[in-house]
Amino acid sequence: MGRLVEYSLGGKAPLNRSPSRTVLVTGGSAGIGGQLTLSLAQAGYHVYFVGRQSDRGRALEDRVQDQGGRATFVAGDLSSQHGVAQLADRVRALLPPRGLDALVNNLGGVAPAPRTTSDGVETTFASNFVHPVLLACLLLPELQAAQGRVVQMSTGYHHLVRLTRADLTGRRWDCGMNVYGRAKLLSVQAGEVIGLRWRNRGVGWHFADPGMAQTPLTRSMTPRDFPWYGRFLFSPVRHVQGCIPLEWCASSTLRLLTRTPPRDTGAYVLPGPVVLPRALVGFDRRAGANGLAFSYRWFLPEYRPLVESTTGE
Ligand SMILES: NC(=O)c1ccc[n+]([C@@H]2O[C@H](COP(=O)([O-])OP(=O)(O)OC[C@H]3O[C@@H](n4cnc5c(N)ncnc54)[C@H](OP(=O)(O)O)[C@@H]3O)[C@@H](O)[C@H]2O)c1
Repeated sequence: MGRLVEYSLGGKAPLNRSPSRTVLVTGGSAGIGGQLTLSLAQAGYHVYFVGRQSDRGRALEDRVQDQGGRATFVAGDLSSQHGVAQLADRVRALLPPRGLDALVNNLGGVAPAPRTTSDGVETTFASNFVHPVLLACLLLPELQAAQGRVVQMSTGYHHLVRLTRADLTGRRWDCGMNVYGRAKLLSVQAGEVIGLRWRNRGVGWHFADPGMAQTPLTRSMTPRDFPWYGRFLFSPVRHVQGCIPLEWCASSTLRLLTRTPPRDTGAYVLPGPVVLPRALVGFDRRAGANGLAFSYRWFLPEYRPLVESTTGE
């Protein structure tokens, strides 16, 4: 358990086309999530995908159905904890009795300036960590019913930052990308710990790095979101992003969901055949357990007991 099972995932084993499996993709109507919706439906999943704009969602729903797949758009705004809980209720009402085979916590975000959500949580930590963890806890019974797994969308940027207590207490805000990297690092470290604690429930917790691409998120960013030494690279990186197909970004999640053995946890998968040794992932169980325990104060009183009781020791 916790091994890098993806090492064996890049082989020529046939894809499991999962005829009756269900997956929920947050931020699944555009960008990398939009491609995930298409690719997972092609792999045989019934994809429930989330976004705010219904016209965009309906158009993608039609596109998947035209290709012979099954996708259901579920409207929801995941920018607050109540929004996450409302979405969980909507999804629960739609799922078949066998439950949810996979939750892809794809939605993330980079804030251009320090700000908090309506719940009083720093926005970037909320969108990349608090809301994904809350959604997973709310849907845990459905995941357990199907012996499912959570896939947390990650980023290579978490390798470039360190996470200190000052970051968790919200006393440090240098630039959007660095805060984003720290929030993703917390989600990797704490996510590994949650996955280990959920092993006895039969629910795995994995990580997919999508590489990079041009999406609504990256198109909205400016050089000011990067530290000064990274601003010189902004234009070349944007050019490279424009050349990378979204299918490539979706491939890490697709590989995880079609080839990771059930009941495994803690796989960190990159797009393509690249293998990242476990020592380089950034896992740190002690930091993850401490960060997770610290984070409980970010959850609203109505959700904190659930999150604490399901993810705690
Ligand atoms: N793009 C990259 O180069 C890159 C690199 C590394 C990691 N990642 C990670 O990959 C994931 C996806 O990235 P992305 O660039 O594709 O993101 P994105 O462009 O922000 O994703 C857009 C999708 O999110 C939905 N969305 C946005 N805000 C929402 C909200 N408040 N509630 C519900 N849905 C919302 C949009 O639909 P509506 O507008 O209709 O709501 C749309 O479906 C993120 O976790 C990101 O950190 C991306």
